[in-house]
Amino acid sequence: MQTQKIILPEKEIPRQWYNIQADMPSPLQPPLHPFTQEPVSPDDLLPIFPMNLIEQEVSTERWIDIPEEILEKLMIWRPTPVHRASALEKYLQTPAKIYFKNEGASPAGSHKPNTAIAQAYYNKVAGTTRLTTETGAGQWGCALSLGCSLFGLECKVYMVRVSYEQKPYRRLMMKTWGGTCVSSPSRDTEFGRSVLAADPETSGSLGIAISEAVEDAVTSENTKYSLGSVLNHVMLHQTIVGLEVQKQFEMIGDYPDVIIGCVGGGSNFSGVSFPYVRDKIFGQKVQIIAVESTACPTLTRGPFAYDYGDTAAKTPLLPMYTLGHNFMPKPIHAGGLRYHGMAPLLSQLVLDQLIEPRAYNQLQAYEAGVIFARTEGMICAPETNHAIAAVIEEAKKAKEEGKQKTILFNLSGHGLLDLPGYDAFLDGELVEYELSENEIQHSLHDLDSFPRPVIK
Ligand SMILES: Cc1ncc(COP(=O)(O)O)c(C=O)c1O
Repeated sequence: MQTQKIILPEKEIPRQWYNIQADMPSPLQPPLHPFTQEPVSPDDLLPIFPMNLIEQEVSTERWIDIPEEILEKLMIWRPTPVHRASALEKYLQTPAKIYFKNEGASPAGSHKPNTAIAQAYYNKVAGTTRLTTETGAGQWGCALSLGCSLFGLECKVYMVRVSYEQKPYRRLMMKTWGGTCVSSPSRDTEFGRSVLAADPETSGSLGIAISEAVEDAVTSENTKYSLGSVLNHVMLHQTIVGLEVQKQFEMIGDYPDVIIGCVGGGSNFSGVSFPYVRDKIFGQKVQIIAVESTACPTLTRGPFAYDYGDTAAKTPLLPMYTLGHNFMPKPIHAGGLRYHGMAPLLSQLVLDQLIEPRAYNQLQAYEAGVIFARTEGMICAPETNHAIAAVIEEAKKAKEEGKQKTILFNLSGHGLLDLPGYDAFLDGELVEYELSENEIQHSLHDLDSFPRPVIK
């Protein structure tokens, strides 16, 4: 019988993270101070992050040791299995071999605890007693509530209103882990109150929620802010995913030709792909595809520019692909893909053509997700379904070309709490949403006065 699951023995769990900053052909351009527009210094970041994480943010060391205390918690569910999707292959009648890494196996149901646990640990060591954050789909809020509970920290989560209303069970998970979750914009911060005054019916956005969480962190005692994606140290913590996959592929003597993941801020994709991007930098032939939503087409239609990470323009200006910090994506059923920017590390690698971006609409995504559920059995998060849409396209291409390809994708989360989206799709209520060029240009005006990053 063919191997269905590649299980990495616990003793083989990677003991170091991989830092792609050591190997990038074009080094990362510096984040700029929001007021002076000069490169930020580590000290500028101290009001929101502890120094140990700031050191990781700027580090160019290739390998960074994972502390034992973190490994012990990650091993509650890690290493995660790599599965062969043979039933999907058969359904598609493709000569391609399809594999997926199952990050839905974590206690919170996604890849997010990989960094939540690390960030909670480093904050605890640095003396932080309370963390604030934002969440879109609710996955990150759950992950951080879990991380905080495992290390005894308080956790306050600002959850984008549309998801807060659509996903009550994620709120309850946060509550069970001891976190406090409020709908954003909230009345708990000055910025939230100002947004509500201007538009009481707003559906909220990740940018607004970030602004609230940052304001809370800088105005409260022993409190720091924690971000679930975008930043370099988050990408670093997620590389355990790809490092495990590399060991798992060694076990079966195979190597992926195509690697696929969905991208909101870029963390699960970076996690699975950066160890392979390293191989590619050193000459390996591998196609690496980042899949976003056509409702928030940051990489496929936005410029590479300096922009704020949040709506209130309080974070540093980051060099990244962006749709403008005031961009308000439509409330599609993939909250985690509705962020206006993209991780600077991933952005630079897209700019350097090591990674290829692609976008699918939510109908294509759900169609793929339903095929996957009916063949492989697992109901995936709507974000993940975007990656599966690309997998199916690549598998069909392999069939047309008569090519034996190995495709790997990251199953970033299960969708068992995302069933209303499936319901709407199956009842024919979802629309194919494509942004107009006018809408994009409108929110990009704000960037005109900012410094420009170098584009070779
Ligand atoms: C299951 C899942 N996949 C993907 C994402 C997108 O985030 P990122 O690009 O940081 O992996 C999210 C974000 O909430 C998510 O919950």
